[in-house]
Amino acid sequence: MTKRIALLPGDGIGPEVVAAARQVLEHLCGDALAFETAAVGYAAYESDGEPLPAATLDLARRADAILFGAVGNPRGDALARNLRPEQAILGLRKHLGLFANLRPAKLYPELADASALRPDVARRIDLVIVRELNGDVYFGEKGMRTTAAGRREGYDIMSYDEDQVAAIARVGFETARARGKRLCSIDKANVLETSQLWRDVVIEVSADYPDVTLSHMLVDNAAMQLVRDPGQFDVIVTGNLFGDILSDQASMCAGSIGMLPSASLDADQKGLYEPIHGSAPDIAGRGKANPLATILSAAMMLRYSLGLAAEADRIEAAVARTLADGVRTADLGGEASTAEMTAAVCEQL
Ligand code: IPM
Ligand code: MG
Repeated sequence: MTKRIALLPGDGIGPEVVAAARQVLEHLCGDALAFETAAVGYAAYESDGEPLPAATLDLARRADAILFGAVGNPRGDALARNLRPEQAILGLRKHLGLFANLRPAKLYPELADASALRPDVARRIDLVIVRELNGDVYFGEKGMRTTAAGRREGYDIMSYDEDQVAAIARVGFETARARGKRLCSIDKANVLETSQLWRDVVIEVSADYPDVTLSHMLVDNAAMQLVRDPGQFDVIVTGNLFGDILSDQASMCAGSIGMLPSASLDADQKGLYEPIHGSAPDIAGRGKANPLATILSAAMMLRYSLGLAAEADRIEAAVARTLADGVRTADLGGEASTAEMTAAVCEQL
């Protein structure tokens, strides 16, 4: 049965890396996948007057899985917040109930030199960040107001309810159960009430997972531990804001932000798949972008939403062999173009 894939390339390097992933998917799966493309982000603002047009959301809803590029354009920063390109990805996550974001970070041995860490430290990274995507300060009440003293004040309310925390905690425990059976919950419970509830609920849920070892870490310490000894982590579960920050950090520990894929899943494993990197306007349109994060996101899509685990394994193995062959885009210290990297992966398939 043909599976329908919604392609949402977006802005900057998004279209280049999504085209690369499509090429790999077509090479591997042929007619088993049918692709349909829609505008999103600043590109959609230009074509349709809004970052997430109804037709795009509708296509995403109807598809079996969504492959997303990136959104963001410096020209968007001047727009009212509801028209900014970032609202597209936030809207997709919210409207589609994509609450669980899986961000695996592992170092390909050949890339040890590309890591910001010493190779002997970097080599040990093999972790998954499970980030909550539908709550936290991202979706709380926010605004600008004037204080009694007549000064401008910006505010964003941070909150989680216990059901949101329990749901993401379960994803964290399940992910850990399928790997090294260690879950580290990251919060700021020494200061934030939101985090205290988070910690209490994670401990409650842990009763159902006696086979998983649970630990807790404050987010500032976690940022330090990620560069001191990233090998100590198996699965991390954390809120939306902390997960956003820590996953960018983990990516550089693992070599390059151009390498990390992600899956954003709803309660039924329907998912949106995207590289964790942004639209990189500085290199957009120059054929220099590293397509591997998106190609690896496509592999996650095959595994989690389409039931094609063997095909996912083949893509991941082809990426490993391509890197072992020494093919490197600029972010990895080489000169290969997006097209050359993509062709090399297809060849290895
Ligand atoms: C990410 C991005 C987004 C986020 C932006 C583009 C809204 O940084 O997916 O990590 O903050 O979640
Ligand atoms: Mg981010």
